[in-house]
Amino acid sequence: MTTKYPKRRSQAWFEKQDRDGFVHRSWTAKPGYPQDSFDGRPIIGICNTWSELTPCNSHFRELAEFVKRGVLEAGGFPLEFPVMSPGETQIRPTAMLFRNLASMDVEESIRGNPLDGVVLLMGCDKTTPSLLMGAASCGLPTIGVSGGPMLNGKFHGKDIGSGTGVWMMSEMVRAGTMSQEEFSEAEACMNRSAGHCMTMGTASSMACMVEALGMSLPGNAAIPASDSRRNRLAQLSGRRIVQMVEENLTMDKVLTREAFENAIRVNAAIGGSTNAVVHLLAIAGRIGVELKLEDWDRIGREMPCLLNLQPSGQFLMEDFYYAGGLPALMAEIKHLLHGNALTANGRSLAENIEGAPCYNREVIKPLEEPFKERAGIAILKGNLAPNGAVIKPSAASPHLLTHRGRAVVFESIEELREKLDDPDLDIDENCIMVLKNCGPCGYPGMAEVGNMPLPTKVLQKGITDMVRISDARMSGTAYGTVVLHTSPEAAVGGPLALVRSGDIIQMDVSKRTLHLEVSDDELARRKTEWTPPPRPDRGYAKMYVDHVQQAHLGADLDFLVGSSGAPVPRESH
Ligand code: FES
Repeated sequence: MTTKYPKRRSQAWFEKQDRDGFVHRSWTAKPGYPQDSFDGRPIIGICNTWSELTPCNSHFRELAEFVKRGVLEAGGFPLEFPVMSPGETQIRPTAMLFRNLASMDVEESIRGNPLDGVVLLMGCDKTTPSLLMGAASCGLPTIGVSGGPMLNGKFHGKDIGSGTGVWMMSEMVRAGTMSQEEFSEAEACMNRSAGHCMTMGTASSMACMVEALGMSLPGNAAIPASDSRRNRLAQLSGRRIVQMVEENLTMDKVLTREAFENAIRVNAAIGGSTNAVVHLLAIAGRIGVELKLEDWDRIGREMPCLLNLQPSGQFLMEDFYYAGGLPALMAEIKHLLHGNALTANGRSLAENIEGAPCYNREVIKPLEEPFKERAGIAILKGNLAPNGAVIKPSAASPHLLTHRGRAVVFESIEELREKLDDPDLDIDENCIMVLKNCGPCGYPGMAEVGNMPLPTKVLQKGITDMVRISDARMSGTAYGTVVLHTSPEAAVGGPLALVRSGDIIQMDVSKRTLHLEVSDDELARRKTEWTPPPRPDRGYAKMYVDHVQQAHLGADLDFLVGSSGAPVPRESH
């Protein structure tokens, strides 16, 4: 049973002249609003992931005020509401466990309330996909406003990037080339302003995805959080969402197959995070666009990386903004994008990026002289990853992209940590590190531990990279020759579970292969000896492992795939 809404959805709440209408209006007016403040106006929800437990989003209360200004200026009525905010740096066991939970919160908060359009305030890694996923399952007119990156980190006269600098400096401490005192000093120098990680990590990648998908106003991705132009963009987005409601510009008109193909190409051109793979697959699943893991390779494989940003390169998001930001980069590859894709401002992508200037060719390289050739995410397949595994060649060491080596297996992240500094660990730089049980079910939540630290005895030789394979994800700020998202994962009995130390693994990224040199008979025999690891037995974690899909499908919960739209058939007032 569905309810037919009048012209605007919120009128089903506020136009009633009975007891229910009394309740809806009277309580909404409680702060002191005259009834004509909201009666008859488009009601705009501001979906806010502000939280002091999500430091990347801690400026979102102020940002929301600018959105409200814009909504009011355009004749709408803004209502801000909180949703779960999984902060990357604090929450245990891993923020990804809660991406789907937060998306449920978003979906039900939007659907259950008298909203005609929604502004999504998102920043830290998981807050962007969870809000897009939840909103997509409702499908109202929706616009995204990212929180913006932090200013460049500054340490001893040099720029340091969030995340990337942590991985690098912690390895330097372990290798004995940086003191503990210097390492501690860097803490205050790296994260020194409002905003999310300012490397091309997952937060920045997803902000670029929001813009490339057409879900925001042009320029959204790169404006630093503390630049007043971020507030201006928030205000303009507030104005625009009111128009989007009038135009009935719903999410499905923006999030088309062409929009996702644009995003995949842009992710390659920015040297974006591998996490964008699972997030875009999940978002596409919600909006009903058929997107497959293989599409990432097919659509993105020939794309060059034009952006010289950490972790693949040198600069940071602040530099990217001053160089022209994402419009300038997309203008460089405009002939490779679907220019007719509709965007949130009602114009096509081609119109938005037409003539976008680049002010710094060190940061945004021209297409004829790219920063890296063929930088799209590669999907490897073979008997070790029948459903695929992911590698980011632009962040890998070229000499390791074709490699055959002896596996050194860690059954869990705890075993890895325990053995990493052991001088008796039988490992050298030619070995392949294999980590199991860190996938969606295994961790649970598919932790960002795939960029395993190198063993101390290898680091001390001056080696900085080895081939590493796991069913985990890695931080978008990380780098190395790291094979991720191996599917099916070890915890559900995928071939990864059957690898043993001493086995030989062959990887050839140019041929997209990942092969375990063990016979099928031997693997079948090992499977009979395999026992699954323990699983959570109550609460959300149980629901998650009972329903989470594998990485190659986007790691969404199976019952959340798709959309229920915006109607609510019943009310209880
Ligand atoms: Fe929030 Fe990096 S920790 S974006």
